[in-house]
Amino acid sequence: MPPETPPILSDGRLTLRPPASSDAFDILEGCQDPEIIRWTTVPSPYDISDARTFLNDRLTPTQWWRNPTWVITESDNRWIGTVDLRPDGQGAAEIGYMIAPAHRGSGVGTAAIRLVCTWALQQWGLQVITWQAVTGNIASRALARRVGFRIHAEPLRLGLAHRGTRVDSWYGELLAVDLTPPVSTSSTGRPKSPAVALTRREQQVLDLIAEGEPNRAIASSLGISENTVKNHVRALLEKLHARSRTDAVVRGVSLGLTSLPH
Ligand SMILES: CC(C)(COP(=O)(O)OP(=O)(O)OC[C@H]1O[C@@H](n2cnc3c(N)ncnc32)[C@H](O)[C@@H]1OP(=O)(O)O)[C@@H](O)C(=O)NCCC(=O)NCCS
Repeated sequence: MPPETPPILSDGRLTLRPPASSDAFDILEGCQDPEIIRWTTVPSPYDISDARTFLNDRLTPTQWWRNPTWVITESDNRWIGTVDLRPDGQGAAEIGYMIAPAHRGSGVGTAAIRLVCTWALQQWGLQVITWQAVTGNIASRALARRVGFRIHAEPLRLGLAHRGTRVDSWYGELLAVDLTPPVSTSSTGRPKSPAVALTRREQQVLDLIAEGEPNRAIASSLGISENTVKNHVRALLEKLHARSRTDAVVRGVSLGLTSLPH
């Protein structure tokens, strides 16, 4: 049986499609970016033959399914970034991504990675998607966290091979239950007023949980009993449809209700 046609994913704003030969020059231009060279393993210097090799390795469906790769596009159908999954054939895949410099910081990366992860975990049948980044890549880390990846506090020592040496890495994993819903944005690109209404106390408790405070410390900061804190935590979990404190923070951050300490 011939392999299935690669899926095209869309959220109305972005369309993720398989790579095409005509993407070569846009990819060539994108891969000159110092941040892409710094944080990924694309060849450096990067020339047109690198772009063509990358594309030629993914043109047929058989090649594509070995390493599912999407070109991220807007309405003009031109490359503004790449997302790929490297499956291990046993239910897991590692994700990689890059966004062209001119398109960063407006939620494109988060939306595209969320589309791929949702498809892979809910339709393709992956059980887990793993993420690794060189320590210090705060943009990649923030993106992964936004999508719902659980990121481990301690780096993986010498976890990545990077440009001829081994470096420490941040790492995390995403299961279907972790996927966070997209935050709707207004025409200014800012999150709309959140749909979840918290009381002033619940808001204070959520902010303190996001800072990593345990119930006892929250009680003492707010001058209330530990039991009252527990009640607020219970209400927060319910309102945010969260399964744990960490989940409540992830969902709170993604809804623009709280933020993580810097
Ligand atoms: C990482 C990358 C894909 C992010 O793409 P993006 O489209 O800018 O991402 P988004 O706009 O969806 O932002 C995602 C989060 O990253 C944060 N972010 C984006 N750029 C940032 C930066 N330079 N510094 C700190 N945080 C940043 C955003 O604020 C957002 O977090 P928030 O929702 O908590 O505010 C992009 O910066 C990139 O291509 N970097 C170079 C390649 C790379 O690092 N790839 C990943 C290798 S693991």
